[in-house]
Amino acid sequence: MTRPSRYGAAMRSLEVCGSTNDEARQWANTGAPDGAIVTSLQQTKGRGRLGREWVSSGENLYFSAVSRPNLSAEQLPLLSLVVGLSVAEGVEPLLTRRPLVKWPNDVFVEGRKLSGILLELSVVKERCEFVIIGVGINVNQREFPPEIASIATSMSIEEGKGFSLSDVLWSVLSRQEENVDALGRGESANLLARWRNRSYTLGRQVRVSQASGEMVGLAVDINPEGALILRGEDGAERLILAGDVGVL
Ligand code: BTN
Repeated sequence: MTRPSRYGAAMRSLEVCGSTNDEARQWANTGAPDGAIVTSLQQTKGRGRLGREWVSSGENLYFSAVSRPNLSAEQLPLLSLVVGLSVAEGVEPLLTRRPLVKWPNDVFVEGRKLSGILLELSVVKERCEFVIIGVGINVNQREFPPEIASIATSMSIEEGKGFSLSDVLWSVLSRQEENVDALGRGESANLLARWRNRSYTLGRQVRVSQASGEMVGLAVDINPEGALILRGEDGAERLILAGDVGVL
């Protein structure tokens, strides 16, 4: 496997912390370079999207990357998709089943969630200073609490064996560096084509939950900016920029 050149060149490996996103943000505020990585075996305050908790035992991979991407504000939603694509492409060589991406950036295997991603931005005077890319991948966990057992999976459950956390980390970082750099070079059409090709969402009926309410419709496509195009029951198409998508 080719190791990335920048991602992971600066790395802090912790036993336990609150959230690797917080550690990475503090480091970024004091000069962490692009591609600096914080990993932790456990998190006591792991965060998920939409204010949810991300329970973080010692069996899985939790890391955050400091990214200082050369991207305009309009390209930032694409970054979210590209990170999900990178996780799927990074774990794929280690699995016998094909990982898919659920908009915006969850990674699914066999209809269950394998990985979640939380992007947090630091914006100063309307300029994005850095992005913290937080990634949780279920690697060696064999049992999940009853409330998520039917919707979560791990690499170990899928393959019936254990994995080295560091093999998974380097494989994912390698894809992440290459894909984020490609996005910076303006190669979004190719990245989006690869995202569509492994989409779990497109062509299916979905429920979109947002702060303003819920919508049900057909997930038709993603647009060049990375928004989800939803065709509602009235036939009208709407652009979804943020929210939680459940496949029906
Ligand atoms: C989600 O699907 O809701 C996103 C989960 C993101 C979890 C990762 S684990 C590493 C990093 N640190 C955090 O506190 N959260 C992210």
